[in-house]
Amino acid sequence: MNEQQWLAMDEYLCDRTQTPDAALEAALKSSADEGLPAINVAPNQGKLLQMLAQLRGARRILELGTLGGYSTIWLARALPADGTLITLEAVEHHASVARKNIERAGLSGVASVIVGDAVDTLESFVRDGIPPFDFIFLDADKKSYPAYLRLVLRLSRPGTVIVADNVIRSGRVADVGSADPDVIGVRKFFDMLAADTHVTSTAIQTVGSKGWDGFSISIVS
Ligand code: SAH
Ligand code: DHB
Ligand code: MG
Repeated sequence: MNEQQWLAMDEYLCDRTQTPDAALEAALKSSADEGLPAINVAPNQGKLLQMLAQLRGARRILELGTLGGYSTIWLARALPADGTLITLEAVEHHASVARKNIERAGLSGVASVIVGDAVDTLESFVRDGIPPFDFIFLDADKKSYPAYLRLVLRLSRPGTVIVADNVIRSGRVADVGSADPDVIGVRKFFDMLAADTHVTSTAIQTVGSKGWDGFSISIVS
């Protein structure tokens, strides 16, 4: 098996399960034109996020790590017209590209981007006692996943679904001796999930157009 085969398979799967979508394609094109890194979720993973949020019946969605808003658009489309998605982004330029992409997708009424360090924003949410979220997607810096998990659990309620992206990193996360802050962060995140009796979790490895990576899914009880 090699990456060319994974890519060919992803192309086949996306061809058979997705319809051309001008807003999503424009979001990727403007992100590339504006110099953003191509580290958005793959189309089939974006659709999975949308379907999971739909299955959950989510009315309030929280995303950490907006980039150009590609995953934001997938998730926001799972919402009813009076739903809410809040996405947190540290880099002003990313947020500004994302806002245009969200607007073009006709989702400005449900999705809003908040600029700042996600830890600071989450702490302010906890302080302000904002209503809990139904679906949470962790996809900002991986070294901070432990801090994010601690905070988003305080913004959850029984039934909240938490999906965390990039928890495999080409298998590096299995390396107990790794000095990579991202790997250390993801391993601590898994330790916290393992120790928390109020969270049911699984994690899945993926190969495809984004290489070898994967995600975890947790349900809060
Ligand atoms: N969810 C996007 C990809 C996000 S890439 C998609 O799939 O389309 C990760 C993003 O997290 C980057 O835009 C990066 O600027 C942002 N980020 C990194 N550290 C952050 C922090 N401390 N707080 C908020 N956002 C952060
Ligand atoms: C990186 C971040 C992501 O969210 C992703 O999906 C892939 C890579 C990164 O920071 O390298
Ligand atoms: Mg990611």
